[in-house]
Amino acid sequence: MSAQVDLSGPALIDVIAEGLSRSFKELPARVLYDETGSRLFEEITRLPEYYPTEAERALLVDCASEVFAMSQARTLVEFGAGVQDKTGLLIEAGTSFGSLACYQPIDISSEVLVESAQSMGRVYTGLDIQPVVGDFTTYIALPESPRPRLTCFLGGTIGNLHPVERFEFFNRMGQMTGTGGYMLVGTDLLKDVERIIRAYDDSEGVTARFLLNVVDVLNSECDTNLDKDDFDYVPLWDALENRMDLRLRSRREQNFAIRDQGIRLAAGEEIRIEVSTKFTLEQVREEFESAGLQVEHQFRNDDFALTLARVG
Ligand code: SAH
Ligand code: AVI
Repeated sequence: MSAQVDLSGPALIDVIAEGLSRSFKELPARVLYDETGSRLFEEITRLPEYYPTEAERALLVDCASEVFAMSQARTLVEFGAGVQDKTGLLIEAGTSFGSLACYQPIDISSEVLVESAQSMGRVYTGLDIQPVVGDFTTYIALPESPRPRLTCFLGGTIGNLHPVERFEFFNRMGQMTGTGGYMLVGTDLLKDVERIIRAYDDSEGVTARFLLNVVDVLNSECDTNLDKDDFDYVPLWDALENRMDLRLRSRREQNFAIRDQGIRLAAGEEIRIEVSTKFTLEQVREEFESAGLQVEHQFRNDDFALTLARVG
């Protein structure tokens, strides 16, 4: 199975060079997901401290049939699909309901996307599976497929975007869903802060390895020669924005170049790699509505929510 590729926008090396030349250094979270990073994320989802995956799975078990009964979707589109593990619950509901004919998983990490789509193809033999390698921070031209569409964005990955990016994402997701289609978005809920912090500072150090893997990504994308031992992983809780703020801190002064651009990291200087926002149900509803989307239902448990909206 090969994937359609739709990667518009600047090359990763240019995005990295730009992010590292700001006075406050910040990289887009997609730098986390080369093949090694994607495997490390999978390991994170199995950690006892990392509650979001199992919380969302429990919700999907309860609501997947209802989502298909409401949406009658014939195509399921998934943003940031990764290993597509929980998606099986939606696919099974869609095939038992009888409407689902096509599944289009989208991800920037092509190896994991294609491998997972192939294993889904072996299980769901009657389904047309069309993987798309694409960047969900841009509009992606999806292959033609039966309508209506149900587009989903699981895992709480929406929380990895900044507020303006979320607004733009919801707009694009609405356009890509099309009139009469439905959108299903998973969000991690605000809760006991100590528990949230533990989910990003696990005792086995897997999350630290996930973040430090970015040093290898920089070396391979930008031809630099940075050393992981020169960085520390720093997970911070931002109480103003209700989000984890995951950074790498340089242990010493470092000077290097990307293309012809000189970059200086001072000793103790930090690079923000990812934010992970935690929401209230009301905030999620407001963000949908401010993007002109009509919320039909919010499914929730103690930890996580799935919001279903209709594109009118
Ligand atoms: N949906 C899965 C995986 C979440 S991990 C789950 O719920 O567990 C986030 C996924 O988004 C990764 O697979 C990563 O490769 C993908 N991703 C991150 N940034 C992306 C971008 N800009 N465009 C497309 N995919 C992206
Ligand atoms: C993909 N995303 C929802 C994860 C999260 O929880 O924000 C990424 C992650 N980063 C560190 N641990 C998990």
